[in-house]
Amino acid sequence: AGTGKFFVGGNWKCNGTKDSVSKLVADLNDAKMENNVDVVVAPPFIYIDQVNNSLTDHIDISAQNCWVGKGGAFTGEISAEQLIDMGCKWVILGHSERRHIIGEDDQFIGKKAAYALSQNLKVIACIGEKLEEREAGKTFDVCFRQMQAFADSITSWENVVIAYEPVWAIGTGKVATPEQAQEVHVAVRDWIKKNISAEVASSTRIIYGGSVNGSNCSELAKQEDIDGFLVGGASLKGPEFATIVNSVT
Ligand code: G3P
Repeated sequence: AGTGKFFVGGNWKCNGTKDSVSKLVADLNDAKMENNVDVVVAPPFIYIDQVNNSLTDHIDISAQNCWVGKGGAFTGEISAEQLIDMGCKWVILGHSERRHIIGEDDQFIGKKAAYALSQNLKVIACIGEKLEEREAGKTFDVCFRQMQAFADSITSWENVVIAYEPVWAIGTGKVATPEQAQEVHVAVRDWIKKNISAEVASSTRIIYGGSVNGSNCSELAKQEDIDGFLVGGASLKGPEFATIVNSVT
């Protein structure tokens, strides 16, 4: 950790029921969490209102996706304006599951980010390479290409957090080593310095995601350029999520 306030997001993905959400919110409300950390949870769209009505004010709410522009005749989509209306402060964009399972491409994701920011929704912008890309030595190429697409659309980076999530580490239990994560975070920060600005490079938080849990978080958090986490599976357990939030201390 080294840049700005430590940031921990919990991405609940497509999990939960009214009952399990209510239990998880109660656990989060009870948990002791560091004050000096930005904590955000991303429930499925349909539970956002329930969470917003019951979760402590210290934790902000994020959506897991949103539409690329203003709402209208777009069946099945949710707009940035609607997310703001329901109390969301953040949206996760470019998650690997949306890139590789749903098929969203770099440019589409970049446009989504620009539109969300224009509506005052903050953005968790995700990047990350697949296993075969890492094995082919293309990790940096892929991350820089995904960053370039964000940079082509985003004009102000003040409300953006970058999440590096190597696809091979997501939901696999195969966490990146602190050195592997740090190496990419430094490279991305360097890319930002050269291609956006030194100011954005030194002020933008770069968080890590991929099999982060209560046991591996402190070693990762010690790395200079790991400014927080985006947590999947372990964010469904309140006490473990709190351990991850508190890992920076
Ligand atoms: O967005 C967080 C995520 O993709 C990581 O998931 O389950 O490996 O922590 P998980």
